[in-house]
Amino acid sequence: MLVLGIETSCDETSAAVVDKNRTLSNIVATQTEHIEFGGVVPEFASRAHIRQLPTIVRMALKKADVQICDLDGCAVTYGPGLAGSLLIGLLFCKGLAQSLKIPWIGINHLEGHIMAVAAEKAPPDFPYLALVVSGGHTLLVKVENPLQYEIVGRTIDDAAGEAFDKTAKILGLGYPGGPIIERHAKNGNGRAIDFPRAMLDKNHLDFSFSGLKTAVLYYAQSLSTRERQDKVDDIAASFQQAVIDVLVEKSMRALERFKIKNFILSGGVARNSTLRDAFSHSCRENQIDFRVPAPELCTDNAAMIARVGHIRLQRGEFSANTLDVKPNLSL
Ligand code: KG4
Ligand code: ZN
Repeated sequence: MLVLGIETSCDETSAAVVDKNRTLSNIVATQTEHIEFGGVVPEFASRAHIRQLPTIVRMALKKADVQICDLDGCAVTYGPGLAGSLLIGLLFCKGLAQSLKIPWIGINHLEGHIMAVAAEKAPPDFPYLALVVSGGHTLLVKVENPLQYEIVGRTIDDAAGEAFDKTAKILGLGYPGGPIIERHAKNGNGRAIDFPRAMLDKNHLDFSFSGLKTAVLYYAQSLSTRERQDKVDDIAASFQQAVIDVLVEKSMRALERFKIKNFILSGGVARNSTLRDAFSHSCRENQIDFRVPAPELCTDNAAMIARVGHIRLQRGEFSANTLDVKPNLSL
């Protein structure tokens, strides 16, 4: 069974082809028109998806060495995300499926992130715990049965990726903030400034990152321009360390509380190599089976959507043509 996946929920236009066990292609075009605005401009994102999607799909088919008429099904993200961006992918998928007379299915973007590991190899045994850390979400999810998800922790304010992006903005470093902060942090000392680790004293598994961002703002404001330039690597490293400490500590607590021995790290922030190393180390110490997708499968991509689509279509599931985009879809 050959499935085409389409992902257009935010500022990546992506298409992928998968078969039962392999990802045959995964083409991702990251829109650059948002950089000068320091964040995603929804209208520009939709226009870029319209312009790029047909070419990206053609490239995905070519790379997979597959003819369009060979496709057995199509999967597309229908939420959560930007309404206009989601609509471009959904309408494209519906039109394609109708003209090829093949089934199609709408996929939850967050389920895609959790299952991104399965785009490379078999997912871990059940039960497992997944931490999704992206630009829009920070979720701890318990998965006891295939395709059934229970949220056990979430951010009460900013998402982890959002905190990276806002902190980079405060420091005048540009957009997107995650990779830029990571680059600066590599030259800094993560213990140089004692930024707050929110809610570690609480018994629940929720997160909060807006206080950390404000602490960075106040700290930056207390410095002269010259001092800020001199200390930018230490600020980036100390901010990053504060995020990592909280994510690792709460995840380890959750694993212990639910007596779960398998863990998946996913979402755009999971590209961060210091975060990956910290989880790898903690999981080893606690005898936890740790999985994290390859970096290019952590940020938004269609391979993760195609993989979930393949699993669900194979189970006989499909979507009706009345399905609409759901910008606020939850897991
Ligand atoms: O999953 P994703 O591509 O899109 C959403 O679903 O939101 O995640 C994007 C987020 C952005 O906030 C970006 O700054 C962050 O992931 N990110 C990183 C890194 N690469 C991307 N955060 C920290 N370190 C990175 N290397
Ligand atoms: Zn995402």
